[in-house]
Amino acid sequence: MASRVRFHPDRRQLLLGGASVIGMLAVAGPVRADLPVREYSLAAYPARTRLAGINTPEIDVWTYGGTLPGPEIRVKKGERLRVRFENRLREETTVHWHGIRLPNAMDGVPHLTQKPVAPGETFVYEFKCPDAGTYWYHPHQRSHEQVGRGLSGALIVEEPTPYPVDREQTWVIGDWRLGRDGDFIDDFGDLHDISHNGRIGNTITINGKVPGKFAVRAGERIRLRLINAASARILALHFDGHQPKVVALDGQPVAPHDPEGGSIILGPAMRADIVLDMTNEPGSVFTILDRPGRNRSYRLFDMVYDSSAPVRKTFGAVPALPSNPLAEPDLENAVRHVVTLNGGMMSRMESAIVDGKRVDAHTMFRSGLMWAINGVAAKDHVHEPMLNLALGKTYLFELVNESAWLHPMHLHGHAFRFLSANGRPRPHREWLDTVLLWPRERVEIAFVADNPGDWMFHCHNLEHQLGGMMALVRVS
Ligand code: C2O
Ligand code: CU
Repeated sequence: MASRVRFHPDRRQLLLGGASVIGMLAVAGPVRADLPVREYSLAAYPARTRLAGINTPEIDVWTYGGTLPGPEIRVKKGERLRVRFENRLREETTVHWHGIRLPNAMDGVPHLTQKPVAPGETFVYEFKCPDAGTYWYHPHQRSHEQVGRGLSGALIVEEPTPYPVDREQTWVIGDWRLGRDGDFIDDFGDLHDISHNGRIGNTITINGKVPGKFAVRAGERIRLRLINAASARILALHFDGHQPKVVALDGQPVAPHDPEGGSIILGPAMRADIVLDMTNEPGSVFTILDRPGRNRSYRLFDMVYDSSAPVRKTFGAVPALPSNPLAEPDLENAVRHVVTLNGGMMSRMESAIVDGKRVDAHTMFRSGLMWAINGVAAKDHVHEPMLNLALGKTYLFELVNESAWLHPMHLHGHAFRFLSANGRPRPHREWLDTVLLWPRERVEIAFVADNPGDWMFHCHNLEHQLGGMMALVRVS
């Protein structure tokens, strides 16, 4: 029986179409012996797939476990996760566990927290998942191309007691730039994309497929875990005829509320858990839209009610999710830092520091570096920390977007409270790991620097990141 098997580090694990849950293993070795371990095997390798269904061409993608997205990894809050990762790509890679507050050595940042995993090599990631919620995993090595070619998957940390819904679904949302022949346009790292809004595609997929329809039943209550795994596209999801309630953002619970402006806005890497009540008649059809602007909306797919009688006629209030063990920022004694974001087309940035030297913007742009954080453009993951933070202290970052573009800014290893935007306090002070800044916007975030290590702070528009929009903070 799986539960009796003792872990042996050299044991070969069966790989059947990707990850396989080996079961709850008793831990041998130096790690804490009191926590159950959930074990997966995960390999990255090229595969072929059809994004838009049977009559469309098969294209080459890079996958975890042969599927798009990669296998959904599930653990319970407080459990340890052990993933034996194997790189069967033709280039180096790493796996980053986006949003998980884990030990620095497991963060998957090449050269900074680990040696990249070479082709043919394996790496065992192992960490505790302290917070329930919706997370995801993806490479941090050349991520603009590795994520763009398909490498991403959901990591779900379950609440100790199931949240009361009829069913739940995870939607890993991808965005692809395909040519007329239905194949990839192979233009990763294009300078125009880097200097504007990234490599926006022309084909949106949900769980690796261009969605046909979403079949529902009248009277159902559904929890949707939405993950924006696109490199650059900002989504504004609108559920026509329905009133979704947002119950978690970036995995962290928030007081259930209606989405601001009626749409669920997700920049790259951002997640939202929503509760959707199927309040309409059997047989009815509604549209799910992406509404990126006042006058622009695109039909993504239809929500189709089957003809069966409603499961229920009235719906109770949407309950709040139980909270996670996050340290509350001590705002009275917070240390404030201003962090400026600059660069891109139409910017007033004249120069930035590259490799310790001041370089004028034209020279920078020609070499593909187009963005700077606090005046520094980063060529790779290892560089001088932007800030040194004292372990256990509260920090308030005032992020100032001096550019004409949007930036989903992500901090590794921590969750922060989103306090205000352009001076207006946020009604829910939501916990996030990625905050979306609009052009010229100024936002305040606060967090306790309670996780020691070198942590990336970067734009999750992966072309902006490639173009230098990356910094690190050192907590010690
Ligand atoms: Cu989702 Cu630095 O990553
Ligand atoms: Cu950006």
